[in-house]
Amino acid sequence: MRDGSPKAIYRKDYQPPVFTTERVSLYINIFPGKTTVTATQVIHRNTDAGSDLVLDGENLKLQSVAIDGVSWAEDRYREEEGKLVVTAVPDAFELTTVVEICPEENSSLEGLYKSRTMYCTQCEAEGFRKITYYLDRPDVLALFEVTVEAEEASCPVLLSNGNLINKESLGNGRHRAVWQDPYPKPSYLFALVAGDLACVEDTFTTCSGRNVDLKIYVEQKDVGFCDHAMDSLKRSMKWDEEVYGLEYDLELFNIVAVDDFNMGAMENKSLNIFNTSAVLAGPDITTDMGYQRIEAIVAHEYFHNYSGNRVTCRDWFQLSLKEGFTVFRDSEFSSDMGSRGVKRVEDVAFLRTHQFAEDAGPMAHPVRPDSFIDISNFYTLTVYEKGAEVVRMLHIMLGAETFQRGASLYFERFDGQAVTCDDFVSAMEEASGRDLTQFRRWYEQAGTPQLTVTGDYDVGNRRYTLNIKQHNPDTAGQKDKAPLMMPIAVGLLVDGKPMPLEGESTTKVLELTEREQSFVFDDVAAAPTPSLLRGFSAPVRLTEEPTHEALITLMRGDDDEFVRWDAAQSYAAQVIEHVDEQGVPNAFLDAYADVLRADIDPAMKAHTLRLPTEDYLADRASQRGLVDVFKIRAQRDQVKRAVAKAFLPEWQALFGENAIDTAYQADGEQIGKRALRHLALDLCCEVAPSFLSNAEALLASADNLTDRLAALRAIVYYGDQALRESALSGFLEQWRDQALVVNQWFVVQAWRPDASVVEDVQKLQDCAVFDWKNPNKLRSLIGAFSNGNTLGFHRADGAGYRLLADAVVKIQAFNPQIASRMLTPLTQFKRYEHGQDMMKAQLERIASINNLPKDVFEVVSRSLAD
Ligand code: TRP
Ligand code: ZN
Repeated sequence: MRDGSPKAIYRKDYQPPVFTTERVSLYINIFPGKTTVTATQVIHRNTDAGSDLVLDGENLKLQSVAIDGVSWAEDRYREEEGKLVVTAVPDAFELTTVVEICPEENSSLEGLYKSRTMYCTQCEAEGFRKITYYLDRPDVLALFEVTVEAEEASCPVLLSNGNLINKESLGNGRHRAVWQDPYPKPSYLFALVAGDLACVEDTFTTCSGRNVDLKIYVEQKDVGFCDHAMDSLKRSMKWDEEVYGLEYDLELFNIVAVDDFNMGAMENKSLNIFNTSAVLAGPDITTDMGYQRIEAIVAHEYFHNYSGNRVTCRDWFQLSLKEGFTVFRDSEFSSDMGSRGVKRVEDVAFLRTHQFAEDAGPMAHPVRPDSFIDISNFYTLTVYEKGAEVVRMLHIMLGAETFQRGASLYFERFDGQAVTCDDFVSAMEEASGRDLTQFRRWYEQAGTPQLTVTGDYDVGNRRYTLNIKQHNPDTAGQKDKAPLMMPIAVGLLVDGKPMPLEGESTTKVLELTEREQSFVFDDVAAAPTPSLLRGFSAPVRLTEEPTHEALITLMRGDDDEFVRWDAAQSYAAQVIEHVDEQGVPNAFLDAYADVLRADIDPAMKAHTLRLPTEDYLADRASQRGLVDVFKIRAQRDQVKRAVAKAFLPEWQALFGENAIDTAYQADGEQIGKRALRHLALDLCCEVAPSFLSNAEALLASADNLTDRLAALRAIVYYGDQALRESALSGFLEQWRDQALVVNQWFVVQAWRPDASVVEDVQKLQDCAVFDWKNPNKLRSLIGAFSNGNTLGFHRADGAGYRLLADAVVKIQAFNPQIASRMLTPLTQFKRYEHGQDMMKAQLERIASINNLPKDVFEVVSRSLAD
């Protein structure tokens, strides 16, 4: 570590800024090896606390400081670690600083950096301070004017936020562009791009008839891969007008695709910057899931224009104000564009496995955290996904119409301001006339609530009573929690059919507020089967599992798609967990066969027939004690083989029937068919080795990446070494120029279910197409291996843990954010039956590194703390 451990910042210590910047003009002069940033800021005093002006800055070479045009004496300012302190300043003044930076050497991908041939920025959360000295906090909103100067030949395209005011050649091989953003914004939304980029253009006419130019900038070779993102953007713009009444507020909207990017994408005002993996799409380079992911991310970033940009966060503890709300908005958008039921099932499966685990581990934190050392560690599943569930609960409790009124009130009232999660809830309170004091606890309390639900049927009075108890478990640093307010959507099935509970509707939304509460239903003709948590109305665990009979009743007769799927998952999970004693019961096979033969949406069928993931089974096991990943793996495999064998002819038929003979399209129908077909392929290969020839044929004939990968996966997982190696090298030869396809090639290998995969991954790190500096490559190989390969990562000799730790040790030296994220699987060591000591030893090894970056320090030290 550095001298002394990095310090935590607390939400309760929030103070408004002492000074604020109203306007800033930047002159960014890019020369290879030396970029000069001249910043002129109009600053005024905002509060009486303190007299010095303290600006944030990191890795800046300060050239000069002037106030109101006069050079400031050197004894009137000083540079401290991460700060510039200017003393004896007046109450209102113009500050001019000149700093030098070196984007070519910036490997953290934060601030101004170079990705391949292009200069680009990433400023959220605290990257702007790597560009110039500034009040780098989200509650300082300023008007930006930006001049970018660079060489004309290598950087013909010069972009920043807002409107292009002027572009001129300087006659010496250099040129410059001036951009002005009419909306005040915090520094984290600043963006700049300079490079040799091609552009795909389109237009959108807004609801009031204004024309907006839409431009997607990519490297020349990628111009053919922008249509899907462009269509997604136009659909998002339309949806936000229709559902939220929000119209785009500038004449230009730019998206730029970059290869080296720490996250998916970034919502910089009118200049969104995207990871290439989140924007480029084509049948040969993008999977079905990839198409859906791109649509969702394009929408997400676009929606931030209001939820995040026009109304922003007061401080970083409020991150979920923009992220939770925006994830809710993009998931509703995706539901409206495709199948609502399928989207919900996918989101819940993801939340329950990954967010629940986070919420039970050492990094557990409330949706609105109370403290952090480095905010970049808090772009979490809890802030994003659980945060979205909290917004969804408001939507359910208030109803769509009232919720939309609350949202409109929020956007009107707080336009141009930096606000808090409380402000959001207040707008909802005002729109609904309800008291949401108790509901606010969802922002304060970490951990996943546990509900214990029991039912009593009173034959004489034809009355059914549901008793619900809630328990809010202790989490790291939080004990004795108060009960939460939450919507519990229920149905009642009588004789296997849902009865009307509210008018025609078979769903009733109960509001749970107490630790223990009863709800009475009258006129219930016979003992019902309760259908609980319809649509997953609250992010909780149910402790009592329905009987197999009840699960079968729900699978067959419920009219809630989520509950039907969930009943199938629970049933399968129970069967997997008990397979040693019981084998696979016939009743389960019968229920499974029903689904297999049912005439339902293929996508939903595939989701229902796919056995619960190892991660979900691990989460369930963690509720009972330590997780034995090998046992889970073996039990699941046993049941998988049983359903494969029992229905082999049907799987073979499904594989045949779901072949698509028309051209590839990433629409719901084709995607569902392929999902089902690939499930069939996997199960057939699992029990019938000769079926692999179908995989080989598919690999040779496929006209799209989704099919090709399903085939390659089957060959790599089930084929012998010779077959595997020739398929992999053939695939690489064909696609080595498509970075996004090569990423998938890494994933397939990282997931090969065999302990010897550790050596493969080791070797792949040295191959020519791997690149340590590219986060997508790290995620595809090392991330996929450590998050998705039980037999490899948890190998008994600890080689998997060592491989990850070796990588983290290396990566932290140049990209701390990625190192810190990659660490996650090791931080969960206390959950496991095997390997705890070895995982812990690797964490300790990382902890002992000198000058460990503070984000990595935070994750390691929280994990090792008792
Ligand atoms: N705000 C971005 C989003 O909506 C998240 C993000 C992009 C980010 N790049 C980042 C967060 C870098 C931290 C660091 O998803
Ligand atoms: Zn976001």
